[in-house]
Amino acid sequence: MRVDQPVAYRVADRRRETHDAWTLRLEAVDGNAVPPFSPGQFSMLYVFGSGEVPISISAIPEAGAALVHTVRAVGAVTRTLCAAQPGAAVGVRAPFGRGWPVAAAEGRDVVVVAGGLGLAPLRPVVHELIARRDRFGRVAVLYGGRSPSDLLYRDELDEWRRTDAIDVELIVDAPEEGWQGKVGVVTKLIRRASFDPANTVAMACGPEVMMRFAATALRERGMAPSDVWLSLERSMKCATGHCGHCQLGPLFICKDGPVVRHDRVEHLMRTPGL
Ligand SMILES: Cc1cc2nc3c(=O)[nH]c(=O)nc-3n(C[C@H](O)[C@H](O)[C@H](O)COP(=O)(O)OP(=O)(O)OC[C@H]3O[C@@H](n4cnc5c(N)ncnc54)[C@H](O)[C@@H]3O)c2cc1C
Ligand code: FES
Repeated sequence: MRVDQPVAYRVADRRRETHDAWTLRLEAVDGNAVPPFSPGQFSMLYVFGSGEVPISISAIPEAGAALVHTVRAVGAVTRTLCAAQPGAAVGVRAPFGRGWPVAAAEGRDVVVVAGGLGLAPLRPVVHELIARRDRFGRVAVLYGGRSPSDLLYRDELDEWRRTDAIDVELIVDAPEEGWQGKVGVVTKLIRRASFDPANTVAMACGPEVMMRFAATALRERGMAPSDVWLSLERSMKCATGHCGHCQLGPLFICKDGPVVRHDRVEHLMRTPGL
């Protein structure tokens, strides 16, 4: 299948996650679907008359050709996507990029660290960890948001907590009335999480500054730099490694990422305040 031409999809279903984020389920028109995804890969979603944006897959349905994406309205294209009603047309080029090292984490502890919308690309990882629970050691999901109402997938987070299969810890910067959970930044959870630093794979996604601090906290716990993985966001156009829009040092984030080893990009990441 050619990845330079959008395939026709329609919005089948939409669900509000937060005040500015929606999860869309897209279905292929005429059953003509894009190839299957791995957790961490992304689509280029094209909105007619508006433009095209990279959006991560936020769930991988077991059957059928549906695509699930969680989108935050920040600008022209994402605002149109978030307002799209069932039946609206969306063009899809996909799948792109290198995903999370889930297979390589088998037999080891896994720490998933997410901030805000960063849980979206990690949600298919958590689904896979739960589905194949016996293949992994301890599993900790550490999720932080600005406020309780900024946390995605609240019902599902409760379900994950109820299963006891994995350890799920939530934290917010600014509590709201009724919040009885932890207050602070997600790195606080890393310091207390239960995992064997010598035998753990960590996967982190969120604002870049949060990932920097998370990676530092994981390494302070004794993790090897090569076991800490991040998902980076850069401006994208072609998504196929040709235009250079997403270049970060020697890497093209659209094809060498978006998931990258922390020690390979540490010196290239944005410095807070710059
Ligand atoms: C690999 C990859 C995966 C992504 N996955 C997702 C996803 O799953 N869900 C999702 O909602 N977004 C995701 N993004 C970010 C998304 O692509 C951008 O938010 C989008 O391109 C913005 O386009 P726009 O036309 O709506 O806004 P623009 O008109 O391009 O930008 C409007 C304003 O928003 C700011 N802005 C742009 N991007 C962001 C951003 N990422 N966060 C905050 N502010 C921003 C701009 O600086 C500008 O001020 C991903 C990006 C990459 C590279
Ligand atoms: S978006 Fe064109 S090279 Fe990555």
